[in-house]
Amino acid sequence: MAMISMTVNGKTHSAEAEGRTLLVEFLREKLHLTGTHVGCDTSQCGACTVHVNGQNVKACTMFAAEADGAEVTTIEGMANGDGSLNVMQQAFQDHHGLQCGFCTPGMVMSATKLLEENPKPSEQEIRDYLQGNICRCTGYHNIIKAILAASGQDMPAVAAE
Ligand code: FES
Ligand code: FES
Repeated sequence: MAMISMTVNGKTHSAEAEGRTLLVEFLREKLHLTGTHVGCDTSQCGACTVHVNGQNVKACTMFAAEADGAEVTTIEGMANGDGSLNVMQQAFQDHHGLQCGFCTPGMVMSATKLLEENPKPSEQEIRDYLQGNICRCTGYHNIIKAILAASGQDMPAVAAE
């Protein structure tokens, strides 16, 4: 066991963990931040996506020890300061970008990073970027609509049928 410290959503947290503890386990089981989901544990689904030092990371692909000293943001840290939904979260709600909601935290984290890198992505660029995020409800159409809306764009008419 080793003591691991990281800043998560702006607060410093420390907890003991084994060397084999994954970052997603550390977040969920040690810090009780259960908004980060585990859909596969094999780096396929993206439900566990968080930001580590400003980069999208699938938290099941990183050991907690590798994030020692890092700045981590999870879905719990995405709301506005007053607790209201941020622009991306609101767009998912407004455009029905979720069904069961299992993939949603990872989708929101990935989509947020996409708009940081590319503020006006095309529908195709969104589809390409989200290749690592799987929605088992197959709600991709509305997810893309939500991300376009969050970037101030409408769904192209041809794809909106
Ligand atoms: S749980 Fe990490 S990619 Fe599926
Ligand atoms: S909304 Fe159910 S997995 Fe995406």
